[in-house]
Amino acid sequence: MNKVIACAPGKSILFGEHAVVHGYPAIALAISLVSSCEIEQIPEKRVELCLKNSNKFYKQDNAEKLIEELPKKYKQISTCLRLFQQNYELIFENTKITIASQLFKSAGLGSSASIAVALVEAINAFHELNLTKSEVSDIAYEMEKVVHGTPSGIDNTICTFGNVIHYQNKEFVFIPLSKEVKLLITFTNASHDTKRAIEKVRKFKMTHLEKCEEIFTQIGEIALEGKQRLKEGDLQSLGELMNENQELLEQLGVSNKIISKINEIALKNGAFGSKLTGAGLGGCVISVGEDDTLYYLEKLLKGKGFPCFVANSDNVGVRSVKKE
Ligand code: PMV
Repeated sequence: MNKVIACAPGKSILFGEHAVVHGYPAIALAISLVSSCEIEQIPEKRVELCLKNSNKFYKQDNAEKLIEELPKKYKQISTCLRLFQQNYELIFENTKITIASQLFKSAGLGSSASIAVALVEAINAFHELNLTKSEVSDIAYEMEKVVHGTPSGIDNTICTFGNVIHYQNKEFVFIPLSKEVKLLITFTNASHDTKRAIEKVRKFKMTHLEKCEEIFTQIGEIALEGKQRLKEGDLQSLGELMNENQELLEQLGVSNKIISKINEIALKNGAFGSKLTGAGLGGCVISVGEDDTLYYLEKLLKGKGFPCFVANSDNVGVRSVKKE
């Protein structure tokens, strides 16, 4: 029986979320937590889908029926199956697909993109389609659009290629690091809705065009400066830039009281910088500092009821292994 397992990292946006949707640069880092997708051949002539995190199991005679049965919230998966049926003439029979993720859901860590990328790569490897990483990322982007409306493309790109990237207008370059960056990632205990946050910023732009462009421009400048500091491994300056980026995100209206509270605790206890990551209005906060500070803060914030962990960067991106 053939079996394939694919993994794709989650991500954190260090600088530039929201502005990136409007064409400004952003910096993203792939993190050491992953989503996985396993595809195996089964003797029964049917297609099975097991969604481990939500404890859901679907079983149908063929992919068409499965697509019909899947609830709207799994539209990303049905879009993917349909796309491969139509464009690659794949028939998902005698197939079991299992999806799982280590990432907090709807929390700014790219869980949907990382699942999308892992699923596309698993299909690619299982059916030996020889898709390049760029093609995997492009298909994942189509899946992201179904959930997020007008995503910038940064999530599917970083989850596919890993490392640290400078992203702008669907183009990206890798940023070489002089030393590894660790991030403390803290969950606000509230999931967020990326589409809603993007809409909120779009409305702000419509009503305050000049102010909004000014904020985006400043965020873009911070992202470019942050890129330099990353290359030099200057954590202190990186942190200060993160604080500046946070202030601008507050002006855009995508921060909230819990995010501010976590930032305050982090900064009072020695972090160099702290900001929301991703869409905001909930989700996660990232903090940088010396390693000792981050591990101390991890304990402190956990004690206050905020789930958190120290993440390393992922330098591989999506990968798959085949087992006969
Ligand atoms: O919160 P996430 O992981 O969905 O990230 C969203 C990042 C935004 O810049 C707000 C949107 C985008 O597509 O770039």
